[in-house]
Amino acid sequence: MSTSPNAAAARSKPKAEDGALHAVGMRGSARRMTVRPQWVASGALAAILLAAGCASSDRTGPSPVAGGPKPQADFGPAAFAKWPCLSETLNCGKISNRKPMQAVMAGQLGGEPAAGKAIAFDARKGNCLACHAMIGGVQPGTRGPDLTRYGTWGRSDAETYSLVFDMRWRNSETVMLPFGTNEILTDKEIRDVVAFLQSSR
Ligand code: HEC
Repeated sequence: MSTSPNAAAARSKPKAEDGALHAVGMRGSARRMTVRPQWVASGALAAILLAAGCASSDRTGPSPVAGGPKPQADFGPAAFAKWPCLSETLNCGKISNRKPMQAVMAGQLGGEPAAGKAIAFDARKGNCLACHAMIGGVQPGTRGPDLTRYGTWGRSDAETYSLVFDMRWRNSETVMLPFGTNEILTDKEIRDVVAFLQSSR
């Protein structure tokens, strides 16, 4: 199934182009409006409304689906750029632009479980709850395996570290984000998350 991400990216492309053509069409009609003097006033009003609209869309970013809900303000384009490109609606397609790597953890783990829990539950950090049930977490997603008793699985700190760092070395088709490779979490943050997982019993 190694072709499916590419196929998804190819499918999403025409959609993006449709959107661009539509935007050009709208701009063209706005220009035609302003050549009629009696419409200048309404044109100016439209320009003000347009500017206000642009300002707000700069802040919140476009909706990922036509007519759908807008992302929260803090998830605007700048914040989104920090995330790996797993989007099916953006040009980048589904595949992250950094190669999978099997990271080797240096020295002892030394993470803090409480800090790791906060990172794992924070939608702007690990956001692990979006896919995994975790101890103390509410309304988890079910895309990934239940990690509520991960500490009893007998996995080493080093293996867990390298999986959270980048799951793709184990499963090239994974939907789990490469937290280390794509610099979503720092080395210290990954160690904290691993400590939280190991303390989950
Ligand atoms: C987008 C969904 C998603 C997110 C977000 C996510 N994971 Fe995963 N995770 C998965 C899936 C799916 C798997 C199963 C392995 C695979 O992809 O084949 C997995 C597997 C794992 C495993 C290995 C479990 C095993 O059976 O070996 C660990 C550990 C893990 N995730 C930890 C985390 C942590 C910690 C976070 C947050 C920092 C996180 N995951 C965020 C989807 C996700």
